[in-house]
Amino acid sequence: MAAPVIELDALTRRFGDLVAVDSIDLRVEPGQFFGFLGPNGAGKSTTIKMVTGLLAPTSGRIRILGTDLVADPVAVKRQIGVVPEGLALYGRLTGAEFLNFAGRLYGLDRETTARRASELLEFMRLADRPDTLITDYSHGMQKKLAMAAAVIHGPRILFLDEPFEGVDAIAAGTLKAMLQRMIANGATIFLTSHVLEIVERLCSHVAIIDHGKLVAQGSLDELRAGQQRNLEQIFLSVVGGPPETAGELSWLG
Ligand SMILES: Nc1ncnc2c1ncn2[C@@H]1O[C@H](COP(=O)(O)OP(=O)(O)OP(=O)(O)O)[C@@H](O)[C@H]1O
Ligand SMILES: [Mg+2]
Repeated sequence: MAAPVIELDALTRRFGDLVAVDSIDLRVEPGQFFGFLGPNGAGKSTTIKMVTGLLAPTSGRIRILGTDLVADPVAVKRQIGVVPEGLALYGRLTGAEFLNFAGRLYGLDRETTARRASELLEFMRLADRPDTLITDYSHGMQKKLAMAAAVIHGPRILFLDEPFEGVDAIAAGTLKAMLQRMIANGATIFLTSHVLEIVERLCSHVAIIDHGKLVAQGSLDELRAGQQRNLEQIFLSVVGGPPETAGELSWLG
């Protein structure tokens, strides 16, 4: 079996007394389309930020593509793309300026960067108002631009935090096609999403985190464990469904 491209050992992050990520061990193999699931506040975004070098772990080890992230963060960042929770765009640039900036930052030459930037703007349907500043983009437009910037260098691993949140159905379709093409070309994708139908359709492997702890992981077939269950049923069985009594909030009518 090929070496894992993401290896987390006892990865932990505390915020004061809160253990947001609690000693996670995780392996992602090359070419996997990996869904990282969990309820609100479970620790997904905190994990993605640590794994992509945006937030320091309290303890534990992160190896990406065989390299220790703390020992050589630049070597890792060169080969990955990330769309974090907060998007991290520069509002005073236009979309084209930002993509050109991102491409040059990743070390692409000027011509390659310009060609890929304009292809990506067309692909994401962001090309028709070239002079608009990012700060004046809608939320979904900003998300698509962040996605474009994250792939301009052809990353070997793409990390996406809630990529389908806030984007329209056309963009979601475009995005799915782009991700499937990356997988076909040998990349690995690691995403969080609350849209379990999309995760079920796209992902080959899933991990579920709850209160900072990994509570399930495996291929979708492994998680089904021979039963006719969809991902939502698996998810609810692992992290608990809605409260059984509807007695509260009775004043809502
Ligand atoms: N900078 C911070 N300071 C203090 N607490 C934090 C900080 N960042 C996250 N937390 C806490 O850590 C926990 C995990 O947060 P995280 O954002 O990782 O959850 P999540 O799984 O991404 O949730 P969601 O599905 O709502 O995006 C939460 O209890 C959150 O309040
Ligand atoms: Mg989150």
